[in-house]
Amino acid sequence: MHHFERRDGVLHAEDVNVETLAERVGTPFYCYSDATLRRHIRVFHDAFRDARPLIAYSVKANSNLSVLNILREEGAGADVVSGGELQRALEAGIAPDRIVFSGVGKTRREMAAALRSRIHQFNVESEGELAALSEVAASLGVRAPVAFRVNPDVAAGGHEKISTGKAEDKFGVPWREARALYRKAGSLPGIAIVGVDVHIGSQISELAPFERAFERVAALVRELRGDGHAIERLDLGGGLGIPYGDAATPPHPVEYAALIERIAKPLGVDLIFEPGRMIVGNAGILVSRVLYVKEGASSRFLIVDAGMNDLIRPALYDAYHAIEPVRPRDGAPLLYEIVGPVCETGDRFARGRRLPPMQEGDLVAFMSAGAYGAVQASEYNSRPLIPEVLVSGRRFAVIRRRPDFDSMVERERSPIWSEAKA
Ligand code: LLP
Repeated sequence: MHHFERRDGVLHAEDVNVETLAERVGTPFYCYSDATLRRHIRVFHDAFRDARPLIAYSVKANSNLSVLNILREEGAGADVVSGGELQRALEAGIAPDRIVFSGVGKTRREMAAALRSRIHQFNVESEGELAALSEVAASLGVRAPVAFRVNPDVAAGGHEKISTGKAEDKFGVPWREARALYRKAGSLPGIAIVGVDVHIGSQISELAPFERAFERVAALVRELRGDGHAIERLDLGGGLGIPYGDAATPPHPVEYAALIERIAKPLGVDLIFEPGRMIVGNAGILVSRVLYVKEGASSRFLIVDAGMNDLIRPALYDAYHAIEPVRPRDGAPLLYEIVGPVCETGDRFARGRRLPPMQEGDLVAFMSAGAYGAVQASEYNSRPLIPEVLVSGRRFAVIRRRPDFDSMVERERSPIWSEAKA
């Protein structure tokens, strides 16, 4: 469900005509719907009404401060994977005791910042990280609340680049070593064991892999308790897929919640979730203008002003995004290959896409671009990061400005040379 609908044939974001936005802001730009963001977090929350979990929104999916502010207003905490994301979450007013810190490569500096903020939990992914965290915590005179992220060796997720729960993936501690690591953690001065964490991948469109992973984790919780550890929390990660307009129809949060209720309720743990895409994915679109229609030797290219640097998902993961004309023209649909201006063959959003006839200057919308869109953008080809716009009812705000050339090159001007002693 989202709030991007047609009125008199023209695409609107809530009550705002997307053509008007394009004129006011300039293309390309990302556009988010306030109502959709709020709706998605409520749907997730309502699905778990009885369990009252901590919904630690996965900041990596869309870290814009205005988005974080909305989600904080709706009761979300945050799942962060860097010092920068931690700072964003805190700046958006998310309470530290609603923040969990994930990721395989936390630095000591990041650990210290998170410990000083007194975050809720560290999801630890290796023995080396455990030792470092204990040292940093002990030096600050505190104990770090720790859950190990365990690798349940379950295949899941739409694409090999976003699957994280198989034994060969870099994520999580190996299943067989989990109990020994908990034992080790129990003996360290700077560590307080609080729970178990698992995250098996992203854009997962069926329940079975979740079920396999969560059953295994529930068994582990029982074993760890048998070993004498106080396992009070279970962090089940994110990963629930969204409909992108292609074949896959992911389970509804209510079905996902019922599965988890069945597995987790008997354990009597506090639940934590780290949803990202499910909250922001369908709450955003990317709006772009057609620069040229080029009749190539074998395909008809629609050259648009957004490139792979603005939305890399199709190039990187072969991801499908529905692409819609903002104001469709009359006439028989044609097949288009939709490409950007970046000087790479991979700068292609779609092949053989059927669209109404398109002309120079027409607007197109890439749907479901709210997650892993703006956050994965780069300035490749010296193209400035594109603006992000938030719509709420009949109003809109630019929530990230388009940088001018000076701010793009500012950090490169006036290099400071120093002598490096041999
Ligand atoms: N928790 C952890 C530890 C994660 O690594 C992730 C995503 C999430 C939660 C949130 O997962 P979600 O609910 O959004 O599926 N850039 C890729 C997706 C990368 C996902 C990375 N980790 C894409 O555009 O499809």
